[in-house]
Amino acid sequence: MTDLFDRIIGDKGPLGKWAKQAEGYYVFPKLEGNISNRMEFNGKKVLTWSINDYLGLANHPEVIKADADAAAIHGMAYPMGARMMSGHTKFHEQLEKECAEFVSKEAAYLVNFGYQGMVSAIDALVTKNDVIVYDIDTHACIIDGVRLHAGKRFVYKHNDVESLEKNVKRAVKIADKTGGGILVISEGVFGMRGEQGKLKEIAALKKKYNFRFLVDDAHGFGTLGATGAGTGEEQGVQDDIDVYFATFAKSMAGIGAFFAGNKDVVQYLQYNMRSQMFAKSLPLTMVKGALKRLDMIRTMPELKAKLWENTNALQNGLKDNGFDIGKTNTCVTPVYLHGDIPEAMAMVNDLRENHGVFCSIVVYPVIPKGLIILRLIPTATHTLEDVNETITAFSDIREKLQSGVYKKIGATMV
Ligand SMILES: Cc1ncc(COP(=O)(O)O)c(C=O)c1O
Repeated sequence: MTDLFDRIIGDKGPLGKWAKQAEGYYVFPKLEGNISNRMEFNGKKVLTWSINDYLGLANHPEVIKADADAAAIHGMAYPMGARMMSGHTKFHEQLEKECAEFVSKEAAYLVNFGYQGMVSAIDALVTKNDVIVYDIDTHACIIDGVRLHAGKRFVYKHNDVESLEKNVKRAVKIADKTGGGILVISEGVFGMRGEQGKLKEIAALKKKYNFRFLVDDAHGFGTLGATGAGTGEEQGVQDDIDVYFATFAKSMAGIGAFFAGNKDVVQYLQYNMRSQMFAKSLPLTMVKGALKRLDMIRTMPELKAKLWENTNALQNGLKDNGFDIGKTNTCVTPVYLHGDIPEAMAMVNDLRENHGVFCSIVVYPVIPKGLIILRLIPTATHTLEDVNETITAFSDIREKLQSGVYKKIGATMV
């Protein structure tokens, strides 16, 4: 037997092992100042492309005022207790009603965090007789929800409808034996690579097989669809989504999330989702702030139009300059480059220190060894000047990466 902490201290995990080199810079960086296209990092102004404030609501004066007004009345404590017990208000109900209406569902239920809510919703929706079929590239909250499942689960190749169908067939065989049902789970937008989930094709499969469809639309909500109601609206299949999920952490520039669906399913979640039954409810200040944000998403289409103007300029500019941005068909803009982790560190350091451009960096083990993704999130607060400046900076760092400059610098960094 060993002391549990001996292992923990000796092996900090695949990311934790880089803590000494990375902490405060590549991970846990402190971006300071008002949330916008230009923020401060290590005392210097940087052009910021790493914040999911798609519509620029985070620092919008109307949003700041709504939050401040609500906080002045309620503080952050009210209501105390879980929704079921003493944490319920008419404003929680109103926000649920408005979220449901916005995404064309009968009802909605709020959760405090998207991550925990998703884990808990999956846990609530299935029993050991049911089978889950899910995309291999789904967000950790889905993976972790599936981990709680006591029954069978099958994973299908990313956005591969043939692989999905094969696995649904396997699920049908099991569900026929157990008497259970099938839950298929996809993201609306895959947040790392920016591809939309194949919701239309999955919806078409529902005509052949009897399954229910859960969609995590964290990145689609507010950014896609004619009204901003998300990927289901964009692909014309919102009605085929049985349980729709969106977080307030991105376009809504807040905190919290919701599930929407028909009345019975939502009521079931209210009475069975453990993350809400056994935890304090979303503070009223956040709820009132979310009502304001939702109203702005509904009534200010110019925010989404500006977001897409910037997105199109950035993505077209990168492609025209020979960058590989994969198959993104959303605002999420990954730039694929090749190199090892030390090279990636040297490159990002150059980008931040000498070009004043701050974006997220994704490396192994999140993606395969040798691949580097610089992930850009355009927002409505960016300008076309920002786009041009970034493309110039990217052209410079690509040249240095390819000529081996970062190999030498990177070797001194680890
Ligand atoms: C696809 C996806 N699902 C769920 C979540 C979790 O949402 P939250 O930040 O509200 O916990 C995120 C990240 O925020 C996400 O990107």
